[in-house]
Amino acid sequence: MDIKSVIVIGAGTMGSGIAQWFATHHVNVELVDSNQDQLNKALTSIHSSWDKLAQKNKISTAQAEEMKKFLFVKQLSSANKKADLIIEAIIENLEIKKNLFQELDRDFSAHTILASNTSSFPITLLAEAVSDKRKENFIGLHFFNPAIIMKLVEVIVGDKTSTVLAQDLYNWFDQKDKKPAMCKDSPGFIVNRVARNFYGEPLRIVDEDDQEKMREVDHILKEVGGFKMGPFELMDLIGIDINYSVTCSVWDSYNKEPRFAPHKLQKQMVDEGRFGRKTKKGFYQYE
Ligand code: NAI
Repeated sequence: MDIKSVIVIGAGTMGSGIAQWFATHHVNVELVDSNQDQLNKALTSIHSSWDKLAQKNKISTAQAEEMKKFLFVKQLSSANKKADLIIEAIIENLEIKKNLFQELDRDFSAHTILASNTSSFPITLLAEAVSDKRKENFIGLHFFNPAIIMKLVEVIVGDKTSTVLAQDLYNWFDQKDKKPAMCKDSPGFIVNRVARNFYGEPLRIVDEDDQEKMREVDHILKEVGGFKMGPFELMDLIGIDINYSVTCSVWDSYNKEPRFAPHKLQKQMVDEGRFGRKTKKGFYQYE
């Protein structure tokens, strides 16, 4: 398998990171978003991140300029209809994702692989939106935040996904310096299922909107537990809106088992528009 052209849909936290990773590895990537401002913001931020690496002599200026040549921003209507791979990284909403996949199935070449970066929806369920033939070419590719740095990619095989395709993608990412993991199509896959308790228990321990207690829990888990980030810092990085949607979806999938239950603070923060770093306000405040 060789992937030469990719479209990433959704230029938010994940989509922009995924697009940057492909361009860094000299794969042509078109980044798409329904919100033009978000698209412009993503392009500026990716370019500036390469420029900063060049200023710090981590890469040369020529390398930074070369990477920029592999990244394009587009509206979906003008994206390459014969792309090898499309990765969907839009809002975590089942109906909106399914509508998009229906459109992609209709408008893009039969050989184009359709992948979702969903954190929690079953791939088999999302694949209901596409034709039977396309289902073989429909897969989950779950990247981690920040996608440019985090090596893990969960490769999720739906009921009808071709196992040859899954293995080919696994091998391709393996060769490109990612660490792929083959996953069953089960709620939360591997990491998001295990991680539910990393967020849920600290929320239950703190139980109220108290920054001092949150700082203490983050500090203990980092200093004593050896985690790179504390749970509240990590939720702010992921996006509290996204994390809340994933919590609800995994909880529903496990018939509302109490260990997966969302905490009232998560809903409160979403209602208040405190989504974390991206809105400069979450559990903590950001400049
Ligand atoms: P985000 O909220 O930062 O970005 C979503 C982007 O999608 C926005 O820019 C929005 O304008 C765009 N969008 C929404 N509907 C669209 C449509 N129909 N067509 C084109 N663009 C559309 O969300 P984030 O955090 O990047 O999450 C995206 C996906 O990645 C979700 O499925 C989430 O579960 C998953 N994910 C998120 C992680 C995280 O740490 N935030 C980690 C791994 C996966």
